[in-house]
Amino acid sequence: MDSKFTIGAVCFMIIWLALIRKSQGADINVIKYGAAYQKKKKKKKNGAKADGKPDDRQAITSTWKEACTSTDPSTVVIPKRKHMVGPLNFQGPCKASVSILVQGYMVAPIDLNKFNPQDHWTVFQNIDGLMVSGGGTFDGQGSLAWSQNNCAKTGICDSLPINLRFTGVTNSKIQDITSLNSKSFHMNILNSKNVTLQNITINAPGKSLNTDGIHIGRSSRINITHADIKTGDDCVSLGDGSQQINVENMTCGPGHGISVGSLGKYHNE
Ligand SMILES: *[C@@H]1O[C@H](CO)[C@@H](O)[C@H](O)[C@H]1NC(C)=O
Ligand SMILES: *[C@@H]1O[C@H](CO)[C@@H](O)[C@H](O)[C@H]1NC(C)=O
Ligand SMILES: *[C@@H]1O[C@H](CO)[C@@H](O)[C@H](O)[C@H]1NC(C)=O
Ligand SMILES: *[C@@H]1O[C@H](CO)[C@@H](O)[C@H](O)[C@H]1NC(C)=O
Repeated sequence: MDSKFTIGAVCFMIIWLALIRKSQGADINVIKYGAAYQKKKKKKKNGAKADGKPDDRQAITSTWKEACTSTDPSTVVIPKRKHMVGPLNFQGPCKASVSILVQGYMVAPIDLNKFNPQDHWTVFQNIDGLMVSGGGTFDGQGSLAWSQNNCAKTGICDSLPINLRFTGVTNSKIQDITSLNSKSFHMNILNSKNVTLQNITINAPGKSLNTDGIHIGRSSRINITHADIKTGDDCVSLGDGSQQINVENMTCGPGHGISVGSLGKYHNE
């Protein structure tokens, strides 16, 4: 008797479910290249929230895991929209090369407690053949952290999250990515080899504290070309044990340019 009502309700349910899925990061995809896969798309769900807003961390993490365990080269697509994301670990080693196409605008939690005990927002770790590109932005939302930062006085800066860490990354390329308003250093490249950073934009207001652009430690064959860095701190800083660092055509300033070995006072390089 109520068939109209039922059809209406079912339609409503479908639309509602579609909206829910959309809002939960269902559009974050893995595309695999190889014999077994032809542009196969997977839908993902997510979990927790950052600063009370939906958080795409779970969706991105599970998509990464799927890509990283694939025996075919694959691409993780983070689409063009705003993504609230808590600390992200892109953990290797992976079974084949993985590209991450960051087209979206990634937004970090403001609250430092969300990072405890991590010293980064995003880390790429133990990955060979990584490609990060896509024209996207990582916004660290650091202004509250800078106002609370007294590490220049105390020398204790370990707890402040670095926007992007590359640790143990080899034969890789990072290009067309923007890092904004990191709570601490923007990028830290550690124990890495043969990494090209091309067309990287780094921006933080001159009053931001300790927001060095790219710090490199214990790494070799790091090639930085066409970087545009404005932070008020060092654009590129070199820690111990780095060799064959090439910096080409960089726009730097306001800031301190390139510095070598000034970072001994920090524990987390
Ligand atoms: C260095 O890394 C690039 C990827 O950016 C790769 O194409 C190249 O083969 C690597 N070089 C060596 C000597 O492994
Ligand atoms: C550099 O990256 C930006 C995105 O950050 C992009 O819009 C621009 O086209 C890139 N430039 C080149 C020369 O690829
Ligand atoms: C650095 O990378 C650029 C762009 O990929 C390339 O043209 C240049 O030859 C590289 N320089 C070195 C020293 O590897
Ligand atoms: C350096 O970069 C600027 C713009 O970023 C470009 O116009 C110029 O041609 C580049 N120079 C070289 C030598 O690549």
